[in-house]
Parts: sequence; structure tokens; C-alpha cells
Amino acid sequence: MRVALTGATGFLGLRLVRQLLEQHDSLTVLAHAGSGCALGRITRFMELTGAPLALITELPRRLRVMETDLCRPGLGLPNAEFRRLADELDVIWHSAGNINLDDDLGSLRRTNVEGTRRVLELAAAGARRPLVHHIGTAFVGGARREGVIYEDELDDRYGFENSYEQSKYEAEVLVRDWSRLHGRPVVVMRPSVLVTDLPPHPELPEHPLQFLSRIVESSARSGGLAERDIPDEYRPVVRLAGHPHGHLNLMPVEHAAAVMVQLASRPPSGRADVYHVVHDHDVATTVLTALVERIAPVKVRLVEKRPDDPARLEAAADLYPGFTPYLSHRRRFDDTRVRNLLGPFSSGIRVDLDYLTTGISTRRTASATGAP
Ligand SMILES: NC(=O)c1ccc[n+]([C@@H]2O[C@H](COP(=O)([O-])OP(=O)(O)OC[C@H]3O[C@@H](n4cnc5c(N)ncnc54)[C@H](OP(=O)(O)O)[C@@H]3O)[C@@H](O)[C@H]2O)c1
Repeated sequence: MRVALTGATGFLGLRLVRQLLEQHDSLTVLAHAGSGCALGRITRFMELTGAPLALITELPRRLRVMETDLCRPGLGLPNAEFRRLADELDVIWHSAGNINLDDDLGSLRRTNVEGTRRVLELAAAGARRPLVHHIGTAFVGGARREGVIYEDELDDRYGFENSYEQSKYEAEVLVRDWSRLHGRPVVVMRPSVLVTDLPPHPELPEHPLQFLSRIVESSARSGGLAERDIPDEYRPVVRLAGHPHGHLNLMPVEHAAAVMVQLASRPPSGRADVYHVVHDHDVATTVLTALVERIAPVKVRLVEKRPDDPARLEAAADLYPGFTPYLSHRRRFDDTRVRNLLGPFSSGIRVDLDYLTTGISTRRTASATGAP
């Protein structure tokens, strides 16, 4: 079976490669043209995450890298090469995308919507009618902050918290329409926010929550707050818009990739099969604010709406406005279809303050490491 994958060098894609190599002898990596050596980046990931030496040495044989660009017609491949590729594939995993919540809608659409259209064109052209596994996001649920979001639901009536959500919504609409129009099965995997407890490393892709440590460290510098171990009463208060009973679903990326690959091994229904790939416990917003307080000498106070008169530190703390609305979310993602297929959630990983701290902090904290 010939399997191709976009986004293989990404935070999620690297884990998908690792999982897929357990099932398939070889993979075609549709790498981002001009973005560095994909084979080298995947190899480095395997080395840094302790993959067996035998696997690492076999990578050049087992991974065929093709340079592609989602933003160019035909994925930037010459016509003949595009056709040849299409005709040999049985499965296409589409994980590439632009995950910058604050990018402008135009550039997010170019990668996330038009890029998905090109992947579907590849699938449509393929003589072997390859099955598409599209990596969507649970956040196509948009700006609906309460209630339960079901796997079958897809509507834009609540609007979106940011342009990223909108572009991913439009991409999923495209995928479902394509499936109906062509009478082809597609599998849509919708993860929640993906996280890890692997400490950041310059040779590994960043993940969504890592922005917290960057912002905190730069605002600490700009506010002259170099020292973290100062008593509570001397910490400046940072007001952030958020709900005191808010919660957010954070899914360990390794487990998400494992669940996705298990789901992909089930026979598709023939239509669009949509799955929420989520953790069974949400993380309280107050854990996220505790995380900020753990890595910066501030005291976070959740307030109803963004302050009109932000202090310098507060303005700096709100540098990723696309994310801030999530501090007000109290909704839950229903994953009944996944549980029906795979059984109860079984990662055994607790996503808590220590887990999150380890995954974002370049400076190891005493409580996260057990060090004195
Ligand atoms: N991370 C999350 O929390 C999260 C949550 C829900 C859903 N998702 C979805 O999961 C998927 C993967 O996310 P991720 O976290 O792995 O993102 P990521 O780390 O930013 O990786 C994005 C991948 O897409 C590739 N790419 C970007 N632009 C491209 C282009 N024009 N042509 C070809 N390839 C391109 C990148 O290649 P280079 O690195 O070489 O540029 C990289 O391999 C995305 O569809 C995202 O929407 C992610």
C-alpha cells in the first residue's frame, strides 16, 4: 500500500510519521519545498525522541521525499510528476497547514483551504482512488463557548475566534463537499490543542502553547522582571480576559497520532467520517494561568473582558490575541464515535501543570523535575 503524507516535518506530522512507519514499510513525504531538508529534520526528531537506531538508519530507504508546495497549482509539481504520484497512491494523509492563529485570513486560506483543494485534486486524479485522511481541528466549532460540540456538527453560525478557525472550517467544508460530489470516502480527524511534555528544542517544531513561554519571557524582560522567585505580594498583577470556570481540551500529541493511525485502519463508511481526537479530561483555565505564574513572576487575574487600559506587561502578555478567547471557553467536544470504535480513552497521560510546564519551559522548574 502506497501512503503519502503532507506536513511530515510538523509538530503532529513527525509523530504521524513515527506511527505510520510501524504499519508501512515506506512512506512518501510531500515535504514543504524550500523549507530545509525534510529527511534530516525527521531523522533529528527520531534521534531526539529516542527512536531505535535500526529505525533511524533505515529512514533514507523507507522515506521517499518529494518537494511540494500547497500554495502552488499541482502542489508545485510538473504535470507528469503530479499524475504519476496521483496514480500510485492508495492513501493520502493531509497534515500540512498554517497554524498561526493570528495570521491574516488571506494567507491562512492560501495554505489551509487552497492547499487542501490541491490535495483533493491529487486524490481525484489518482487511478487507485486514494483515501484521504484530512487533519482538521476541533476548533472548527468556532466561537461557540459553551455546550457540547458533536463530531457530525459543522456550522459557522457562532462565527470564529480567529482567522485560523475560519480557514480550517472552510477546508473541512471543502473536504466534505468533495466527498459528496465524488462519492469518495474521507476521514476527518479533529484534534483539540496538541501538547507535549517534551521540552522545547531548537531543532523541533514549536507547538501551540510554547508561545506562552516566549511571551512571558519577553514581557518579563521588557518589564524588568528577570527574577522569577519573588514573593507573591510583590508580583505585578496581569489581567487577562477569561472565565474562572473555563476549561480547554489539550491532547498529548503522541497519543493523538496513535489514535489517528488506529482510526485510519478502520474501514471507512464511504462518506465523510469525522472524529474528535481529544483527551477525556479538560484542563481548567486556572491551570493555564498557574502555568504563566510558574514561568513568570506575575500574578494573573482573570477578568471578564480585555482591559481597555492595559499596562505594558498586560499588553505584552496579550501578544497572541488569537489564543486569548480560549481562556473563556467552557464547551466540551463529544468523541462518541472514536470511543465506539476504539473503546474508552486509554492514554493514561495526565495533562496537568507539571506536564505543561515541562513542555514549554526551556528552564527546568524544581516542581517539574523533582530537583531541589
Ligand atoms: N498543533 C495543534 O495544536 C493542532 C490542533 C488541531 C489541529 N491541528 C492541525 O494539525 C495539522 C498539523 O499541525 P502541526 O501542529 O503539525 O503544524 P506545524 O508544526 O506548523 O506543521 C505544519 C506542517 O505543514 C508544512 N507546510 C506549511 N506550509 C506548507 C506549504 N505551503 N506547502 C507544503 N507544506 C507546508 C510545514 O512544513 P515546514 O515545517 O517545512 O514549513 C509543516 O510540516 C494542521 O492541519 C493543523 O491545522 C493542529
